[in-house]
Amino acid sequence: MNKGVWFSLAALYVTGVAECLECLSCLNITDPNDCQATTQCASGQSCFLQTVHTDNDLRYNMGCQTNQQCKSSTVNPNGIIGRSISTRQQYSCHECCSTNNCNAHMCVHGKPSECKDDETIDCARMSSIFNLCDDFHHAKLTCPKFCGLCQLVDGNWAEWSAWSTCSVTCDNGTNTRTRTCSNPSPSNGGLNCNGSSIGSKVCTMQLCPVHGNWTGWSAWSGCSVSCDVGLRKKWRTCTNPKPDPLGDYCEGDSNEYAVCLNDPCDARSKHVSAFL
Ligand SMILES: *[C@@H]1O[C@H](CO)[C@@H](O)[C@H](O)[C@H]1NC(C)=O
Ligand SMILES: *[C@@H]1O[C@H](CO)[C@@H](O)[C@H](O)[C@H]1NC(C)=O
Ligand SMILES: *[C@@H]1O[C@H](CO)[C@@H](O)[C@H](O)[C@H]1NC(C)=O
Ligand SMILES: *[C@@H]1O[C@H](CO)[C@@H](O)[C@H](O)[C@H]1NC(C)=O
Repeated sequence: MNKGVWFSLAALYVTGVAECLECLSCLNITDPNDCQATTQCASGQSCFLQTVHTDNDLRYNMGCQTNQQCKSSTVNPNGIIGRSISTRQQYSCHECCSTNNCNAHMCVHGKPSECKDDETIDCARMSSIFNLCDDFHHAKLTCPKFCGLCQLVDGNWAEWSAWSTCSVTCDNGTNTRTRTCSNPSPSNGGLNCNGSSIGSKVCTMQLCPVHGNWTGWSAWSGCSVSCDVGLRKKWRTCTNPKPDPLGDYCEGDSNEYAVCLNDPCDARSKHVSAFL
C-alpha cells in the first residue's frame, strides 16, 4: 500500500466514519447512476461500489459494507477510501466512501494525466516472463509506458441524453435515450465502449379511445311481401367493439335493402311482413 492510501485510512480513523450512513443499494446493475434504492447502514459501515465482470458485461454491486471489508487487502488492495495508481484498472474496482449515497460516483477514474507504469509491478520482469506487452489491453492498465502504449485510449461513455418524450400519446410506448462513446472516443487501438448506446423504458399514457367497428352482416331477411315487389334487408351493428364515449361511431349504414320480385299478386291475399 502506498503512502497516500495510508493517509486516507488514517484520516478515516481520526474523523471516524459518520454513523448510520445512507447508501445506494443495488445488486447486479448495469449502471450505478440508475440505482434508486437506498439502505441505512449499521454503524461502522461505509458505502461501497464494486464492479463485477461477466463474460460480456460489466455489472455493479452497491450497498453498505463494514469498514474492515472496505480496507481489507483480501477483498482488493485498492478497495478503500482513496485511490492508488492501480485504480486506473477501470475494469476492476472496489471502493468505499463515507457520505450519504456517495457510492454512485465511484470507480469513475479520470485518465491518469501522465502515462505511468504501476509502481507495484516490475514491468521488465513481467514482460520477459510472459510477454506482458502482447496483451496490450491489460498492459495498458499496468505498464503503458514500458509497453509503449501511452497513445492508446479506451473509449468511455459520455452521459446519457435526456429521455425522449413518449413515443405514443395513448396506451404504452417507450422513452428512449442515447449516449455516445466519446468521453473519450477510443483511439490507437483502444477498446470500444461496452454496452448499449440506446436505453429504453416503457411509458404508460392514458388509455386510447376505443373506436366502434361493425359486426359482420346478418343473412338477408325474407321478402317484405308475399307477392309483387317487396324489399329484403340485412343488417349489422356497431358493437365489434362498441365505441367508448371518446371513440368514434362506425361509419356507414347499419341496414342494407334489396328489391325482391315475387309472383304477381292475384286473388291471394298479400301478406306484409313487419320488418320494414
Ligand atoms: C446478473 O444479471 C445477469 C443478467 O440479468 C444474470 O445473467 C446473472 O446471473 C446475474 N448475476 C447474479 C450474481 O445475480
Ligand atoms: C468490456 O467487457 C469485457 C468483458 O467483461 C472486458 O474484457 C472489456 O475489457 C470491457 N471493455 C471496456 C471498454 O470496458
Ligand atoms: C401497458 O403496460 C402495462 C404494464 O406493463 C400493462 O399491464 C398494460 O396492459 C399495458 N397496456 C396496454 C394498453 O398495452
Ligand atoms: C373490425 O371487425 C372486422 C371483422 O371482425 C375485423 O376484420 C377488423 O379487423 C376490425 N377492425 C378493427 C379496427 O377492429
